Amino acid sequence: MKPIRLVTAALAAMALSSPLALAAAASPAPTGDLTPGHAKKDTLRWVAPKGFYIGTAAAGGGHHEEQPYPDPFTKDLEYRGVLAAEFGSVSAENQMKWEYIHPEQGRYNFGMADAIVKFAQHNRQAVRGHTLLWHSQNPEWLEQGDFTADELRAILRDHITTVVGRYKGRIQQWDVANEIFDDSGNLRTTDNIWIRELGPGIIADAFRWAHQADPRAKLFFNDYNVESVNAKSNAYYTLIKDLRAQGVPVHGFSAQAHLSTRYGFPGDLETNLKRFADLGLGTAITELDVRMDLPADGVPTAEMLAKQADYYRQTLTACLNVKGCNSFTIWGFTDKYSWVPVFFTGQGAATVMWEDFTRKPAYHALQCTLAKASADRGQHHPHLPACAK
Ligand code: G3I
Repeated sequence: MKPIRLVTAALAAMALSSPLALAAAASPAPTGDLTPGHAKKDTLRWVAPKGFYIGTAAAGGGHHEEQPYPDPFTKDLEYRGVLAAEFGSVSAENQMKWEYIHPEQGRYNFGMADAIVKFAQHNRQAVRGHTLLWHSQNPEWLEQGDFTADELRAILRDHITTVVGRYKGRIQQWDVANEIFDDSGNLRTTDNIWIRELGPGIIADAFRWAHQADPRAKLFFNDYNVESVNAKSNAYYTLIKDLRAQGVPVHGFSAQAHLSTRYGFPGDLETNLKRFADLGLGTAITELDVRMDLPADGVPTAEMLAKQADYYRQTLTACLNVKGCNSFTIWGFTDKYSWVPVFFTGQGAATVMWEDFTRKPAYHALQCTLAKASADRGQHHPHLPACAK
């Protein structure tokens, strides 16, 4: 079993001062060749079926700012190498959220988001944009501002037009509206500033404005606790059906899938995604991770890791089995940078790689499931020893 390794800022600084690191820092973006042991043909993106995007969040901003390490996406070269080598899609973990991209009224800061889009282009990756209308991680000037309804509407319209327009043609899917319902299936009419101040009709406008700014981007509703058929996913089903009947450009529904081995696997995930697909929508898994209660020594047992791997496998299988579910994103790929231990005391080990980027059973579960799907679709079937059993 691999102990969880503490990675210090000193190590990261050492990495940055090596000749390889300095050369790489001067060039635009690493291509993935920086990581020994991750040969191109032995990666997730390599074994994935054609047209199926296996993605991850690009770690930066948010909880990372409170941790004793430099910004992962921009500073950790080994991380960047694995990110490029393994994934065909990247999501902005925090970098496109309002508080980062629109920190002051009338002033946008595109630096962090631009870097992700540039990296993705360089490495031939798709990008998922996250997010345009949300109740959380909004800047203070917005949440505490004293705006009329007309002013707020103009602010949102300008934001969506500017941000979506900037990345026109370079973002495959946008989480236009994020987490607009509570777990009972009620619209967030108090903590979501847009719905509270402008009414539910603003949701349709957000989709219309995004579509005007980039007609090719696929526009999604995204939420957690919507993996199963339940009050919350039912609320999305009803809303989306209604919006599409009105001709509102809604193209997709996505389940974040922040799972825990504390709870049973949402066995009706495939059924749930399928009913949205039957409405003519694309579907996606956008933020999968599988956290667990850690033993006192912090090291998960083999059984725990097997259970976690099974949850990853089942989530991927559900998506692969649904027509139009072609985007599958995990919320970070290494425990080194996961948000989980920061939010859930005593829980962790939620991603598919250890802190030193070595692979867990969950990684192999994803890789083997992707390889099998490729074979089932008559595509390449790489020989992967870890998939033998
Ligand atoms: O708001 C405070 C701010 O007042 C304070 O000055 C600052 C000090 O460091 O901390 C700020 O809050 C942090 C916030 O990011 C700021 O961006 C939180 O502590 C920090 O935990 C938070 O983390 C992000 C979280 O979204 C916020 O909701 C995580 O990095 C990010 O991984 C996580 O991602 C979300 C998805 O966007 C949506 N779905 C759930 C997923 C996991 O929570």
